[in-house]
Amino acid sequence: MDFFDVVRERYACKKFDGRPVETVQLNAILEAGRLAPTAKNLQEQRIYVLQSPEALARVDAITPCRYGAATVLAVAYDSSNVFVYPGGKYDSGVEDASIVATHLTLAAKAAGVDSCWLNRFDPDEAAGLLGLPENEKLLMLLDLGYAAEGAGPLPNHTSRKPLEETVTYM
Ligand SMILES: Cc1cc2nc3c(=O)[nH]c(=O)nc-3n(C[C@H](O)[C@H](O)[C@H](O)COP(=O)(O)O)c2cc1C
Repeated sequence: MDFFDVVRERYACKKFDGRPVETVQLNAILEAGRLAPTAKNLQEQRIYVLQSPEALARVDAITPCRYGAATVLAVAYDSSNVFVYPGGKYDSGVEDASIVATHLTLAAKAAGVDSCWLNRFDPDEAAGLLGLPENEKLLMLLDLGYAAEGAGPLPNHTSRKPLEETVTYM
């Protein structure tokens, strides 16, 4: 798929048909995450593939937003291995994990897999429920699968501000 078709056609899918993602597609999605850039190439992302009944039950304990997806990715980052901005107040953990998560999300569409980015959870509680090590911070969950019949974009999918409202030329 052309990149701009991928960007245009991706939408937040809120009803999956319950089929797990095919291995070939899942591997392509994970590879796109692997190729994502990170600050100083630290590659501190940590990705968990949640698809066993037990893992999916944990997802359901974390968020009400699984929507029937049988494959969910959890994207975390190793907070002990991040780039610290000059000034010492900020680091690249959320930034790097967000780039990885965006690669995963767009690669899913390109591979023919629907998705929904989730942040409706308490990150610390969720990290505990997933059993993440202390140094790993959970950024997001990504529902993956195939849209159920009748599913489709919500009306707000096409509602985007014009460039004049968000872009300033200086
Ligand atoms: C950072 C982020 C967090 C989101 N969290 C949730 C969520 O927890 N639950 C949910 O149903 N949708 C969630 N969404 C989906 C958004 O509601 C959706 O992307 C947005 O309304 C625009 O719709 P579209 O993705 O179809 O264009 C999230 C999206 C983003 C980018």
